[in-house]
Amino acid sequence: MREGKGSFTSRAVMFFRALAVRAEIPIFKDTIAEQLLNARGRRIVNRPRTYRFMARLFRRRPRLKQLLAALLLRARFAEDELVRAMEREGVRQYVILGAGWDTFAWRRPDLMARLRVFELDHPATQAAKRARLAERGLIDHPNQIFVPIDFTAQSLSERLLAEGFDPAVPTFVNWMGVTYYLPKPVVEGVFRELDGLCSSGVMIAFDYMDTRVLELTKTRPKTVGTRLRRAVAGAVWRRIGEPFHTWLDLDGLPQWFDGMGYDIQINLTRRAKCEYLPPEALGGYEPGGGMNIALVRSRSMGTAALPGSATGQN
Ligand SMILES: C[S@@+](CC[C@H](N)C(=O)[O-])C[C@H]1O[C@@H](n2cnc3c(N)ncnc32)[C@H](O)[C@@H]1O
Repeated sequence: MREGKGSFTSRAVMFFRALAVRAEIPIFKDTIAEQLLNARGRRIVNRPRTYRFMARLFRRRPRLKQLLAALLLRARFAEDELVRAMEREGVRQYVILGAGWDTFAWRRPDLMARLRVFELDHPATQAAKRARLAERGLIDHPNQIFVPIDFTAQSLSERLLAEGFDPAVPTFVNWMGVTYYLPKPVVEGVFRELDGLCSSGVMIAFDYMDTRVLELTKTRPKTVGTRLRRAVAGAVWRRIGEPFHTWLDLDGLPQWFDGMGYDIQINLTRRAKCEYLPPEALGGYEPGGGMNIALVRSRSMGTAALPGSATGQN
């Protein structure tokens, strides 16, 4: 992230969530996102020609359509699994790490009444979001606690404890869209800290970039077109200032998590992302892209069997 600026990628996610509602993509309905857009963003999502352009673009570049579906699926996954964990594990604390422009507190008053929700994010991103919330008259829920943090420089446990987090309450963590932007020791540190902190257990829903995607990109034939596309993408990414740092090795994942005190409950790679929801809930959008979506559960949560839990690796 560029010094002093909020995250660009989090604003992009908010824009795509608003766009998805207008485009009637059923995977995830963020009905609040549009209210958080700036005037330009609102104009774009309200123009019919945006959707004609989107349809043409998706026909030419189906990978972009898959990527949009994956962004929506990861949000749906985190909240569906949260609801399951509330029912099965008695989860009553919800921590959103790198929350970006997440709108859970305003979309789900039904769940907010039964949860304490900690929204953690980089101070610059959180300040920008809170300023926009105030502008739009969206009031914080009494059970919602904002916690500014830089994961690379501050202790997650200290920040949470300082804001009233209760380690004895079973906790669910949503860590979508963040791991790849952080150095691997920081990612590992967060998993370890959460396990150490949550004495009654923690479940973490997160997404990660698969090292196999990196290998594939390296071995793909380097035509003039792909070189050009990569150069443009690289320049855009440098300008955004949010480069990728971490890819996780799929084969080594169970062992890595085992060493940190977790079991993998769900790991959606490739086709499994399309099978998480029934076809009617996908609405013709098949989630793709190089990021996998996973759920891990700390062993401190106890050994209760999880009815219906699935590992979707393929
Ligand atoms: C792509 S957004 C993800 C937003 C949202 N969680 C989602 O699922 O779409 C990445 C988020 O990570 C946050 N982030 C990146 N680096 C961070 C850091 N060092 N400390 C705290 N937050 C960070 C950004 O502020 C941003 O909100």
